Amino acid sequence: MSTDGVTTAKPQSYLTPLVVRGRIERPQPKGLPTVNLGYNELPYGPTPLVAAALDKAAQNVNAYGGATCDALRAALARANGLDADDIICGNGSEELLDVIARNFARAGDEVLISAYGYIQFEMTTRRQGAALVKAPETNFTTDVDAILSAITARTKLIFLANPNNPTGTVLPFSELARLALNTPPHVVLVLDLAYCEFDGFDSAAGVHDLAKAYDNVIVTRTFSKAYGLAGARVGWAQAPRQMLPGFYAARGMASVNALAQAAALASLADIDVVRDRVAALVLERERVAVSLAALGISALPSGTNFLLVSIDGADAEVIEALVVHFFDDAGLIVGRTREAGLETFLRFSLGTPAQNDLLLQSAARFMAAL
Ligand SMILES: Cc1ncc(COP(=O)(O)O)c(C=O)c1O
Repeated sequence: MSTDGVTTAKPQSYLTPLVVRGRIERPQPKGLPTVNLGYNELPYGPTPLVAAALDKAAQNVNAYGGATCDALRAALARANGLDADDIICGNGSEELLDVIARNFARAGDEVLISAYGYIQFEMTTRRQGAALVKAPETNFTTDVDAILSAITARTKLIFLANPNNPTGTVLPFSELARLALNTPPHVVLVLDLAYCEFDGFDSAAGVHDLAKAYDNVIVTRTFSKAYGLAGARVGWAQAPRQMLPGFYAARGMASVNALAQAAALASLADIDVVRDRVAALVLERERVAVSLAALGISALPSGTNFLLVSIDGADAEVIEALVVHFFDDAGLIVGRTREAGLETFLRFSLGTPAQNDLLLQSAARFMAAL
């Protein structure tokens, strides 16, 4: 064995592992089927047009899908009143968040997020070696003044999800407009609208106008939530046109695969089905929140397809017991929130009405035994 200190050195990662609360992996003790309500997915399978498009695309799987997603960008531009040249598609919007950070943040820079901002904002910042700055929130909701006063000469990026994950809370459009107006030109403001359809199906329109008006504002969207295509991994961004060559340079070729492109395109053609599903889910969200409140479980107001809940007066241990109870009692996997400071909450996505009933019945059993 060499002792020169070079040949004995072990590989060293530049990245510090993120310590997160894990998910339940063990078998369901009663042999019940498990239902994953932990990932904010839609509970429905492909729409008829999506299923047909996937079958057809599978016949051409020998061919690359096209690196710049031309047909999909054109359809997105038509559906949203945008110019296709201002749009880039990605392997989920998560890829685009990374691509944006790779373009604008390095060691020595600051990336600014809200205190309970989406966990991937933290992860992408760490990957770049940049410093994460968190602005305090008010009532678990982003505080625009707190964000604005945390901006420094080193701030390169602001990431803001609206509605936010994991809180589900929403800033009104007027606040987003005020943030865009007051964000200095050296800072890129990224408005992540992953859940916007659940807060009003067409609520993104005004936000897209902000990205048209300011050359430092980017809007990201996804097919993973309202469109029910999380497994296909398709997201997109509307960005100032001059940024797009840098975005393409920041990743490998053709990251949105051919089947995913076909599925996303077909979901836009099946928009009435998508709208109906979202409307039904929003009704379920209200029904479940009201029923939980009657049991003593409070949900934050949500503009998303999930609820972040806590038990009135209970600590993190009780919440952990409820997470375990949902799994052992009913096969339901819910999300332990991974953001620091939210240990007394758990998060679950709304499922089908039958799945939601299962959750309500299981919650009632837990509360009765508490
Ligand atoms: C706020 C937010 N943004 C972005 C994403 C990433 O979505 P995708 O990469 O599936 O488009 C998620 C996924 O949960 C999210 O919660």
